[in-house]
Amino acid sequence: MKRMLLMAMVACLVGVSLNAAEDKPKYTIKEAMKLHKDKLHEKFEKGEATKEEKEKLLEAYTSMGKHKPPKGDDKAWKEKCDALVKAVKDNKVDDFKKAVNCGGCHGAHK
Ligand code: HEC
Repeated sequence: MKRMLLMAMVACLVGVSLNAAEDKPKYTIKEAMKLHKDKLHEKFEKGEATKEEKEKLLEAYTSMGKHKPPKGDDKAWKEKCDALVKAVKDNKVDDFKKAVNCGGCHGAHK
């Protein structure tokens, strides 16, 4: 019995490490949203975000685009995430303000 348990554990570990080897997004959608809770998007809009903070946003939005949204159309979701990535990458505050429409995206995908 003990042996079976051990084998099950090993199988589980192998499964986990195989999973990690894939191109797994660094952030979950919820983790990306935490940056909004921390008001990083507002800093970006005011031009006060540091290089590190911009990189964080970029990585979080890129990760978001790799997930499936909990709700709504996949294609529309990808477009919204891509718009965010692009606005941060190009440092375009006006585009970013449009793209980071909380209610618009939550209504369609949350
Ligand atoms: C591109 C789409 C998109 C935009 C833009 C967006 N959100 Fe979200 N947000 C989501 C989705 C999808 C969820 C649901 C995540 C889940 O349940 O896994 C979510 C969830 C959340 C949550 C709950 C997180 C949790 O831990 O359950 C908060 C808080 C949040 N968003 C804040 C914001 C704020 C503030 C803004 C605007 C500055 C914003 N979001 C803009 C897509 C978006």
